Amino acid sequence: MTLQPLLRHPSLRPTDEWWKAAVVYQVYPRSFADSNGDGIGDIRGIINRLDHLENLGIDVVWLSPVYTSPQDDNGYDISDYYAVDPTFGTLEDLDELIAAMHARGMKLVMDLVVNHTSDEHAWFQESRASRTSAKRDWYIWRDPRTSQEHEAGNEPNNWGSFFSGSAWELDEGTGQYFLHLFSRKQPDLNWDNPEVRAAIYKMMNWWLDRGIDGFRMDVISFISKHPGLPDGPVENGTTWGNGIPFYGSGPHVHEYLQEMHREVFRGRETELMTVGEMVDATPELARLYTDPDRKELDMVFHFEHVGLDHGPGGKFTRKALDLVEVKRSFARWQEALADVGWNSLYWNNHDQPRVVSRFGNDTGYWYESATALATVLHLMRGTPYIYQGEELGMTNMPFEGIEDFRDLESLNYYYEALTGNDGSEAAAELLAGIATGGRDNARTPVQWDATPNAGFTTGDPWIPVNPNHLWLNAAAQRTDPGSVFSWYRSLVRLRHEEPVVIDGRFTLLCPEDPQLFVYTRTSETTSLMVLANCSTTPRALNLQLARELAMRWVSAEVLLHNHPEKSWDRQELRPWEVVVLRRSA
Ligand code: GLC
Ligand code: CA
Repeated sequence: MTLQPLLRHPSLRPTDEWWKAAVVYQVYPRSFADSNGDGIGDIRGIINRLDHLENLGIDVVWLSPVYTSPQDDNGYDISDYYAVDPTFGTLEDLDELIAAMHARGMKLVMDLVVNHTSDEHAWFQESRASRTSAKRDWYIWRDPRTSQEHEAGNEPNNWGSFFSGSAWELDEGTGQYFLHLFSRKQPDLNWDNPEVRAAIYKMMNWWLDRGIDGFRMDVISFISKHPGLPDGPVENGTTWGNGIPFYGSGPHVHEYLQEMHREVFRGRETELMTVGEMVDATPELARLYTDPDRKELDMVFHFEHVGLDHGPGGKFTRKALDLVEVKRSFARWQEALADVGWNSLYWNNHDQPRVVSRFGNDTGYWYESATALATVLHLMRGTPYIYQGEELGMTNMPFEGIEDFRDLESLNYYYEALTGNDGSEAAAELLAGIATGGRDNARTPVQWDATPNAGFTTGDPWIPVNPNHLWLNAAAQRTDPGSVFSWYRSLVRLRHEEPVVIDGRFTLLCPEDPQLFVYTRTSETTSLMVLANCSTTPRALNLQLARELAMRWVSAEVLLHNHPEKSWDRQELRPWEVVVLRRSA
């Protein structure tokens, strides 16, 4: 790894949109660091590890939920928005974390989970108490479809839940079903009720007044449901209908986000950052959501590139990744948001398998593929996100049996698919599916060092630690200039010191090449070229590119190169080799 000095370049020019120059780091608190030996990560654990984040150089932490929760979905089921779950600590711990981060020049963005609450939230308890409860209409209640008899098939519509089964659950007490797009312990709020919206805005203001710097909004494009709740299309091989056409970016979503902006962000938006998670987002929709004139969100997370290896049966089935498709997707998003709006850039989060195992090669080319994938992502236009452990090149987990899994999504899927099918072959196939596609890959503990349990906890970890922590850990990488960690540091630093990374125009080269990912970033003064071989076989550059490099790029500096021992011949890229060049325009 080489990083030429960048300091002669002017430091970042002032921008009123500070988050365009920022790198965000996501902390999934349950798996980050445990301070009290109960086997579960906590807020004090994060405070104790702030040196690591400062050393990496990131600007913002997105903290996954720490609110009071029965932990059915690890905190994405909130029962009190105003309190911290004792598993994670206290409100005082959180205040201390905010202050400690601010003292180090970092900002804290909290997760906002308001499409649904926990079924143990007081609002839902009151709502379910009777059909005439004052909060009945705060959630989405419907009569059975045909008669008063509650049998399978009598749900109000055919929508499936993201976590298997129907999206409806019968409440025996009142004889109606409530909607839950996620688990049955995550009932959907009724955003069409103005009291619900007011209660949410009040809570958001309370958190901002407490000093946090913005929100990552969980499945926020699902808040407005089509009023008729029509049946969704039943896609090949599935039991339940797909309701996304009727709640993905539904009829009032833009109106509600604009109202939220007025009620919560107005007057302080320049200090804040907002990002909305949107399973259904297209580039066209993202332009609307992130157009600053519309006053909705700063950026969105879309899912296009992380769906490209899904097989016909969805995320737990695989198809080979086609690099041409990956590049086409990225280029489409880069272009769509080039003049209006802004991209967020991610490979990983707490819901995605580890990128080095998924799109890279975690055996023969672990270092090379981790650094190459990081580079092609970070040097595009947009705000990059690093998920905890990604900066170490953490890999998927070698799960051995169903007892190693914790995530309700994987477990529900496995047991539902297994029902009525006792063949061990099917079980093995299902297990393989959740082992490669499951969210628990992202949730194994952060590997701090080579001690038992990787320095994550002194107790029994809530989920097994990856055995590769013996060699793959932060302690081994922190001071090694040839580590994945050092490479990520260089990428963060490059974004901070080289303005073309922030606003240079993006141009994809060799779009049809099945192995090479090549693009340029260009401003009036500077150009960068990123060249990566995303495959395990060497690849010669095509004639046109080789000529371009021999002419206009002949005296370009090599800013980054993940094969430091050999100089680059500008003719060919070795397996997972990546090079970043810079020249003046
Ligand atoms: C989002 C979260 C995921 C959670 C779901 C329901 O997709 O990222 O972890 O399970 O929403 O809240
Ligand atoms: Ca703990």
